[in-house]
Amino acid sequence: MLTTGPRGTKDILPDTSGFWQYVEKKAREVCNLFGYREIRTPIFEHTELFLRGIGETTDIVEKEMYTFSDRGGRSITLRPENTAAVVRAFLEHKLYADTPPAKLFYIGPMFRYDRPQAGRYRQFHQFGIEAIGAKGPAIDAEIIILATQFLRSLGLNELVLQLNSVGCPECRPKYRSVLQEFLRDKLSNLCKDCQSRFDRNPMRILDCKQAECTSLTQGAPQMVDCLCDECNQHFTQLKTLLTAGNIEFKLNPRLVRGLDYYTKTAFEIQYAPLGSQSAVCGGGRYDGLIAECGGQPTPGIGFAIGMERVLLALEKQNLLPDVMNQYDVFVIPLGEKAQAAAFKVLCDLRKSGYIADMDFMDRSLKAQMKLANKFSAQYAVIIGDDEVATNSAVLKNMQTGEQQQINFDELLKKLDTEVNG
Ligand code: HAM
Repeated sequence: MLTTGPRGTKDILPDTSGFWQYVEKKAREVCNLFGYREIRTPIFEHTELFLRGIGETTDIVEKEMYTFSDRGGRSITLRPENTAAVVRAFLEHKLYADTPPAKLFYIGPMFRYDRPQAGRYRQFHQFGIEAIGAKGPAIDAEIIILATQFLRSLGLNELVLQLNSVGCPECRPKYRSVLQEFLRDKLSNLCKDCQSRFDRNPMRILDCKQAECTSLTQGAPQMVDCLCDECNQHFTQLKTLLTAGNIEFKLNPRLVRGLDYYTKTAFEIQYAPLGSQSAVCGGGRYDGLIAECGGQPTPGIGFAIGMERVLLALEKQNLLPDVMNQYDVFVIPLGEKAQAAAFKVLCDLRKSGYIADMDFMDRSLKAQMKLANKFSAQYAVIIGDDEVATNSAVLKNMQTGEQQQINFDELLKKLDTEVNG
């Protein structure tokens, strides 16, 4: 137990953390281009926020939350997603008082007691954005384009954008009853989960992955045919805007998403080579959530991208960049007396902005040279007792093997002309 992490969690080791930093940097760059600013909310929130925000009959709330009582007896939940928490922060800090819409992004860990498999973990990371305050379809198009631009900037091209409208509290009740009518005589053949969804959340039945349920729901009435005028118009305009933005989409009338707060636009971006966990991005509009959390009725829309899935896709497609740490200089002291002089040179190099290191394990000269090669150091600075006596060092170009004796005072200037020309 002491040497194994909890099931569904992963350590991000030094060999791979550079890939994470690369993807996070791309996310920050694209957010900057689109005017989204970072928000960092706590990892845990009051459980009530997620019950109200995500919906009590969702799988996330019913089966997947990490909920516990703290020592003060409060019910606390590790965030399973971040939209509800961002809305909470938006209201708590009156971000609505700034020029709307509030355009926010986040990158961080989420927690769901899911069945772990490739691409599905109990602690995973999302890059998400939320735009709160704008109701027109242009902001829907903007965030979909942002997600696509981010994924493409990493080199991922085989993306499929699935799009649907899940209606609003005005048109959805009508659809629910039409759907229930369609399902009523099939009810006993649906899976146990879907049977319990029938009254509580019948639209989720369309999303069930069980083969029997999928086949029984073939030909089910579609939400898009029951949309009210306003939802219909919003959806039509969004499709026009996406086409104008050169974004291909596939209408998927069965796409309902696993969180209850969605209204109107719902979308997912699939990356098929990932297999069963192919959804790299999921999002949609949540025009009722802010009021549900106690604010004035305010529209909102956002998405979240699963970072682990993006990294898996990049690995599969050989798109991970070379992030090996390359040293500028490796400092090599030879003998006792050279240690202090070498250490000073190392400190001076780092102060001047060189990526530099030395051995801390009393290795032999040969082993230290090997280390310099392992870190792809461009130069080695070798300091022996003779060099200390003359205040100098040997500067060795590791690529050409060329070496020259050089005074300590001249070393930085010399390196500067060698490295920067
Ligand atoms: P979601 O669809 O639950 O939406 O999650 C978004 C993405 O997070 C998924 O498409 C997937 O890539 C990743 N993901 C989800 N669960 C796991 C898991 N167990 N392991 C690895 N990756 C996972 C939301 O979370 C919404 N808050 C998105 C949103 C923001 N809607 C509006 N604003």
